[in-house]
Amino acid sequence: MGKQFDAAEVAKHTTPDSCWVILYGKVYDVTNFLAEHPGGAKIILKLAGKDATEEYDPIHPPGILEENLPAEALLGTVNPDTLPQTQTELAPSNVNKEGPPPMESLLNLEEIEQVATKNISNKAWAYYFSASDDKVSKSFNTEVYRSIVLRPRVFVDCSQCDLDTTTLGQKLNTPIYVAPAAMARLGNPAGEAGIAEACRSFGAMQIISNNASMTPEQIVKDAAPDQVFGWQIYVQIDRKKSEAMLARINKIKQIKFIVLTLDAPVPGKREDDERNNFVGASAPVPSGTKRAEDAVEAGDSPGGVGRTLFAGTDPTLTWRETLPWLAKHTDLPIILKGLQTHEDAYIASLHTPQIKGIILSNHGGRALDTAPPAVHTLLEIRKFCPEVFDRLDVLVDGGIRRGTDVVKALCLGAKAVGIGRPALFGLGAGGVEGVKRTLQILCDETKTCMRLLGVERVEDLGPQHINTRLVEQQIYDGPSGLESIRSAFRAKL
Ligand code: FNR
Ligand code: LAC
Repeated sequence: MGKQFDAAEVAKHTTPDSCWVILYGKVYDVTNFLAEHPGGAKIILKLAGKDATEEYDPIHPPGILEENLPAEALLGTVNPDTLPQTQTELAPSNVNKEGPPPMESLLNLEEIEQVATKNISNKAWAYYFSASDDKVSKSFNTEVYRSIVLRPRVFVDCSQCDLDTTTLGQKLNTPIYVAPAAMARLGNPAGEAGIAEACRSFGAMQIISNNASMTPEQIVKDAAPDQVFGWQIYVQIDRKKSEAMLARINKIKQIKFIVLTLDAPVPGKREDDERNNFVGASAPVPSGTKRAEDAVEAGDSPGGVGRTLFAGTDPTLTWRETLPWLAKHTDLPIILKGLQTHEDAYIASLHTPQIKGIILSNHGGRALDTAPPAVHTLLEIRKFCPEVFDRLDVLVDGGIRRGTDVVKALCLGAKAVGIGRPALFGLGAGGVEGVKRTLQILCDETKTCMRLLGVERVEDLGPQHINTRLVEQQIYDGPSGLESIRSAFRAKL
């Protein structure tokens, strides 16, 4: 790799005909890779001629460069003395000059999110916080729990309370798990491995995202022998890539199941995220401003981190094709994520034992805005096809911010309850300690709620502990559609 370049020399190569970038002190010619980049050429051209490490590093796990670039793309090294100094932009409500407060001083998940918002980069905040369109589903996910009223019983010995539970055949110390969420290193260098370290202290399960910013091997490296992980897949148009990943996952013994996400076959429109990624934007660009309009007109918006991550994801998946394909490439049980109707939950229940569970989720409101929160789908399944709960494990995520939310979901039949943003914001607020604090708060709140309800164990929670009348008015009331599903399934057998 002999040659050393001055940054000024690299800066001359900024066009689609000759595009160089600096990564980790090395100079690469990426001209031939521009057309192949899953996130599009534009995003690379934005960084052409520059040191792209700060942008590149938190969103690409190790190994990607070597997998995608031929050896001759590496031209040499850059003379570090010739590089300009860079500064990370901080999030809108900005700048946490004194650094984050002690994590123990933060009392709830909202406070942790506020600290993270001051602590993390603008780009990380926009990506984590964003949801589709008007963020109706995102806020409804949390609000709906507030419309469910608890029914505490008294004169019950509540000196003991235990969160131990079994989900998907795995023994866990808490029903609260970390949902798959991409790009943890955008918020803190500890990344997904830091989340794993926090989960280890709580005996909590973690589902690793297909788009994690670290490799699955790195994430599970320091896991406890009995620590439980799942791995989430976005099936790639280039099936070979997904097959290669599945082959790697099959070898990792802590990964006990595959989660196939189905609610985002195409990305939602996330405006906070998009706004922050306009070419040349050095600060958040409020929509409707001249700069935002100019960028749209010039076709300069690469569409945010989210849109970039979805490039290459196959939108053609079906029950008929995809499940047999998965069965060829893994013996691990499959969990379907993103189900939002009782019909789909019912179809999933006809595919046991390959399908061992389902996650009711609207992707934290990041896919289809005004899609129902998991609570609605839980109630819908209870109404139309309660046998689903006996056939497979039903998990939920979206909007969980309090222990009372966790308890209400469990009362409705959920076996475990996932958190997406809270884990990322915990990481952003205080690294591993921030995620631990997040889990501690939620576990403590869950126990307090259970004790005040007069319930000692997770498995004893049931619909008798809640009043859902207010929400029931909003539950789907059309035809069940199950008869045609049953006959179609019978005809296939
Ligand atoms: C997600 N989610 C997600 N889901 C998935 O299946 N694969 C993924 O890579 C991601 N990535 C991702 C990134 C970020 C920043 C967020 C906020 C979410 C969705 C996630 O698993 C979960 O469904 C929601 O986050 C749950 O909602 P709350 O807990 O964030 O309200
Ligand atoms: C997201 C993806 C990657 O929600 O699932 O951003």
